[in-house]
Amino acid sequence: MKNLVLPAIALVFAFVIFDIAYSDLEVKSRPSVHSCSGECYQNYIAANGTIVEQQRAAAEAAASASPAELGQQTYASCQACHGADGQGGIGPQLQERDAAFITQALTAYKNRETRGAQSALMWPSAEALSERDIENLAAFVETL
Ligand code: HEC
Repeated sequence: MKNLVLPAIALVFAFVIFDIAYSDLEVKSRPSVHSCSGECYQNYIAANGTIVEQQRAAAEAAASASPAELGQQTYASCQACHGADGQGGIGPQLQERDAAFITQALTAYKNRETRGAQSALMWPSAEALSERDIENLAAFVETL
């Protein structure tokens, strides 16, 4: 253990020195959030509202969206297997299925039940869904 103390201290120093020396270093994929203060911040607030206002607006938008609209958002994670329009692909076609069928199938997969030969492919997707998600998805699939 003792021989690790010095290298550990050296490493911490190296990080601190790097941090001081390159404090203005910009990581391209992650624009610096620290550089927007003063006027920059005022402009941001004027254009976008405060964080609290943004969150309130997002919550209001979610509350006023219909179940089918909310289901459409959740459906993004299903598209790869069931197709953008529910036409099927890796998974079966969902078009022309009614809400009761979708609710029943998703609830079964959520409970890790076997319906068809490939049910295991559905378990991870269904597991992540809340009952509300399932209702919304069922409403959306009916619109396809
Ligand atoms: C990894 C690919 C994959 C993803 C992602 C996926 N599914 Fe599936 N889905 C399948 C497969 C494969 C089946 C057939 C399973 C079986 O044999 O029981 C299936 C079956 C279903 C069924 C029953 C269809 C029928 O005719 O019996 C429904 C409903 C369904 N999926 C909805 C969804 C929804 C909604 C999502 C998104 C939350 C989703 N799936 C995500 C592959 C997928």
